Amino acid sequence: MSSQKKIKNIQVYPSANLKGSIQVPGDKSISHRAIMLSALSQGTSRLTGLLMGEDVKATMACFRQMGVKIEKKDQELVVHGVGLHGLKAPAQVLDCGNSGTTMRLMMGILAAQPFISRLTGDASLNKRPMERVAAPLRKMGANIEELRASETERVIKVSGQPLRGIDYVSPVASAQVKSAILLAGLYASGKTKVTEPMASRDHSEIMLQHKGVALTRQENSVELNPIKTLLAGDIKIPGDISSAAFFLVGGCLGEGSQVQILNVGMNPTRTGILDVLEAMGVEIVKNNIQQQGGEEVADLFIQSTSLTSTQISGEIIPRLIDEVPVICVAASHAQGKTEVRDAAELKVKESDRIATVVQEFSNMNIQIRALEDGLIIQGPNKITGGEFHSHGDHRIAMSLMIAASYAPKPSIIHDVQCIQTSYPEFFSQFRQLGAKFEWVDF
Ligand code: S3P
Repeated sequence: MSSQKKIKNIQVYPSANLKGSIQVPGDKSISHRAIMLSALSQGTSRLTGLLMGEDVKATMACFRQMGVKIEKKDQELVVHGVGLHGLKAPAQVLDCGNSGTTMRLMMGILAAQPFISRLTGDASLNKRPMERVAAPLRKMGANIEELRASETERVIKVSGQPLRGIDYVSPVASAQVKSAILLAGLYASGKTKVTEPMASRDHSEIMLQHKGVALTRQENSVELNPIKTLLAGDIKIPGDISSAAFFLVGGCLGEGSQVQILNVGMNPTRTGILDVLEAMGVEIVKNNIQQQGGEEVADLFIQSTSLTSTQISGEIIPRLIDEVPVICVAASHAQGKTEVRDAAELKVKESDRIATVVQEFSNMNIQIRALEDGLIIQGPNKITGGEFHSHGDHRIAMSLMIAASYAPKPSIIHDVQCIQTSYPEFFSQFRQLGAKFEWVDF
């Protein structure tokens, strides 16, 4: 009932620097939302620049199972929307793979459908908390049950119901929680309002507004009224800053690195990594700034610099939560003590990222310590080569590959197949920038 993955290992050789120009694939968060909201729109939408990673493919497969026709044509994905009320009951369990965004946002949509559906995922996703979404949805009248067979096997049963709007104050700053409630709110009677402790990424709000939803935003609150129809329309998806992050960090390390990354999404709810690198002494040159579907994009240029430590806490955390592992790579090269705090959410990502980062980075000879809500790194460190493990977490795997390429000796990183979930082009683009690695079997 859950997805199977092949284990693949990679040997990374030392590099002096990274050099060149790349265009990272489409933003994962925006890609999920573009498929979901286009599927629920009235008419055909053409999506360009979409991420073709496994997480997004899981979302596509789920909507196909519910009767939505989705065609791949050259560089476009053509989604034939069925309208808000046109989904069909899925015959089988919907497999969300490794993707928290797929599961949580779909729970919001499915809660309001006139049928029963079941959702599952891989071992990692089946361990992640879903009550944070189920609890507010139940307040709206949803019927959601968690059926657990073991720690890694779970099915979420959603029996669709008529919903009512709520005024929900979320204990966590989570775009997945916020988006699930807003999506359910499209179908509810009355207004739906979500307030977060800090602002999380706002791609759902931007896309919903483009699709004709009257949405009011005030500080960390967003409010919407139910709607009869979402407007179909073409969407051009910006490059993913969370993928660019690996080469932004890789590009400021080494000697003589010079990296240009084209068409990167500059949504302010996502650019915390840029603020942190600037605070560490990196100059980031932004060119060709444009608007793309209500989101700003830019070409970024970065080069080797000596780094200094920084403090990362508070409102910036949701703006860089997925980038913390690779920020730790930068911090391990920086002079002084870097602290990350207010980031307990790291424990419930694709792995417990406080634990996995501390374990793997300690094995690289980096001075790092776990905190209840973050990490402390003392730099600079003389990173050693060795054998490291991704823990099945794509962002840990890519961070380890970047760190290992600046070690003096070759390293083996186990189980890097998970990188396919968010960045299938990572391997070819890393090589294009001059990194040296090869696949190894055991
Ligand atoms: C995401 C929101 C974030 C982020 C995740 C993608 C989204 O999760 O970490 O990778 O697409 O809404 P939370 O909502 O759990 O913070």
